Amino acid sequence: MSTPTLDKHSAALDAAESGAFEQITITLRVRRFNPEVSDEVTWVDYQLEMDPKERVLDALHKVKWEIDGSLTFRRSCAHGICGSDAMRINGRNRLACKTLLKDINPEKPITVEPIKGMAVLKDLVVDMDPFFQAYRDVMPFLITKGNEPTRERLQSAEDRARFDDTTKCILCAACTSSCPVFWNDGQYFGPAAIVNAHRFIFDSRDEGGEQRLEILNDKEGVWRCRTTFNCTDACPRGIEVTKAIQEVKRALITRRF
Ligand code: SF4
Ligand code: FES
Repeated sequence: MSTPTLDKHSAALDAAESGAFEQITITLRVRRFNPEVSDEVTWVDYQLEMDPKERVLDALHKVKWEIDGSLTFRRSCAHGICGSDAMRINGRNRLACKTLLKDINPEKPITVEPIKGMAVLKDLVVDMDPFFQAYRDVMPFLITKGNEPTRERLQSAEDRARFDDTTKCILCAACTSSCPVFWNDGQYFGPAAIVNAHRFIFDSRDEGGEQRLEILNDKEGVWRCRTTFNCTDACPRGIEVTKAIQEVKRALITRRF
C-alpha cells in the first residue's frame, strides 16, 4: 500500500499530466561551496513547494529569491539556448532550464551539483576558461583564401546538410564534462571543441580544414577519445557527438572532408 505522501505526489503528477496546476513538496539537495567562507563542501536540503511541471531552474530560483540569496549558479536565457546552466542533476549532466521536475522523480531528493572536470569557483559555478580556450584553439570561424567575394558564398543543400548536426552546439559543456578522459586529463580538447571544429572542417566554403586537423592530430586531440558515448548521451541538443568525433578521426586518416 502506498503512503499518503506518495499518493499526494502521484495525484500531483496526474494533475500535471492533465495540465492542471498543483503543488508538491520536493527536496532540492544542492552541493554548496564558498571558498571565501570555508574549504569544506556541504550538501544542503531545501524543501520547496513546486508545480511538477516547473523546471529545476525554477526550483533554484525559488531557493535564491526566497530562501538564500547567496546560492550561486549561471543561467541566462532559461530556454535551452545560451548553454549556461549545464549541471549534474541526479548524477547526470543536464540543462536546469530544460529539466522538468516531473521527469526526474520528484518523490526523492533531487541532487544538484556542478559539472565535473572543471574547478568549482562557487556552488554550481565552474571555471569555464579552459573549456573556451579549447574552443578558441580549433579556430571556430570560417577561414578562406583569396579575394573577398562580391556576393555571398554559395553552397548546395547537400553540402550544408553535411555539417548541420554540429551547428546546433550551444557550448554548454555537458559533453566535455561527462567525458572520463577529460576528467582525468585536463589537457584533452574535449568533445565540444571537436564538435565545433567539425562544423567548419566539413563546411564546403571553408579552407582551414587542414589547419584544424593538424591541431586535432595533437596528442591532446581526437585520438584521446575512447568512444564511451557519454558525450552523445549528455548533449541536450541531441547532437551525435561521438559520430562527429569519429568523422574527424576518419578525415585525419583519409584527408578527405
Ligand atoms: S555538443 Fe552538445 S553537450 Fe557539447 S557543448 Fe555542444 S550542445 Fe553542449
Ligand atoms: S539558461 Fe540558457 S540554456 Fe538554460
